[in-house]
Amino acid sequence: MGLGVRAAPFTYVAHALAVVAAAMVLYWCIHFRGGLAFEAANKNLIFNVHPVLMLIGFIILGSEGNAENSSTFLPRGFSFVCKILSILAAIMVYKVLPTVNHDTTKLIHLILHAIALVLGAVGIYCAFKNHNETGIANLYSLHSWLGIGTISLYGIQWIFGFLAFFFPKAAPNVRKSALPWHALLGIFVYILALATAELGFLEKLTFLQSSGIDKYGPESFLVNFTALVVVLFGASVVVAVVAPARLEEPQGYAPIPEN
Ligand code: HEM
Ligand code: HEM
Repeated sequence: MGLGVRAAPFTYVAHALAVVAAAMVLYWCIHFRGGLAFEAANKNLIFNVHPVLMLIGFIILGSEGNAENSSTFLPRGFSFVCKILSILAAIMVYKVLPTVNHDTTKLIHLILHAIALVLGAVGIYCAFKNHNETGIANLYSLHSWLGIGTISLYGIQWIFGFLAFFFPKAAPNVRKSALPWHALLGIFVYILALATAELGFLEKLTFLQSSGIDKYGPESFLVNFTALVVVLFGASVVVAVVAPARLEEPQGYAPIPEN
């Protein structure tokens, strides 16, 4: 797509928003919801692992990129956080490490997507564990259906990516024609994950508000603003992926020539 803008500034915005969203979801689950646990008498603590792993492990890890360039003008503490996040590069890796050897970025891309997939699966397991240990029914909501769909498509996308581009590798002409589809479906499944997380925030907050928390209280604002930050974060990731790493690069879209 000939957007006429470079990906880099959007990767900086994405980093900043990723740090903010991660801090907000942790603050919510630890300060307001009592903390996180895999085993506990208070089963709510097991549930709390779910939003934290889905947002930080699945969505942010699946999309975060390198802050190498941004670190020169960012405050020290923030650039340190970005350095850590820079190790966590999956969808955006080709845009945030444009000068790094392609085989290396490919390897980072595939390993980080694998880690995101595993953390996502553990996060979903915690939601099921909480339901099973408290006698709540499973898979009754649109959120949970989209969640299962998202993680399944993500797994399929990973297997196809691995077979086509890594091992045993499809023939060059097949790889060439499969790549735009891989990128398109990758962005699609990523947006699906964002939508699922939005429904998750809405659903959980609605449960909490129905059970008595103040609709205009600090926790309600925190959850709604976290969900808003996640929307802005997702938008910046999508633009960073669609925009070219360098402006002089050939663009994926060309106008249809007139007869
Ligand atoms: C892409 C990210 C996410 C995925 C793939 C996902 C997936 C799922 C799945 C499959 C379940 C069903 C568990 C069961 O039936 O036992 C579930 C439950 C739940 N999730 Fe998520 N989730 C995500 C993010 C979130 C977030 C960020 C929140 C925010 C709090 C959240 C809140 C909930 C709630 C309240 C439930 C229990 C109610 C229900 O089953 O719908 N989820 N999630
Ligand atoms: C669920 C997992 C995956 C998702 C969501 C995903 C998503 C994406 C996206 C959105 C792009 C476009 C990036 C850009 O143009 O900046 C891309 C490119 C690519 N992906 Fe994946 N991917 C996944 C797994 C894999 C795996 C396992 C491999 C195996 C090596 C792979 C290999 C590639 C390659 C070679 C490119 C092209 C890079 C280039 O433009 O030169 N992907 N992927």
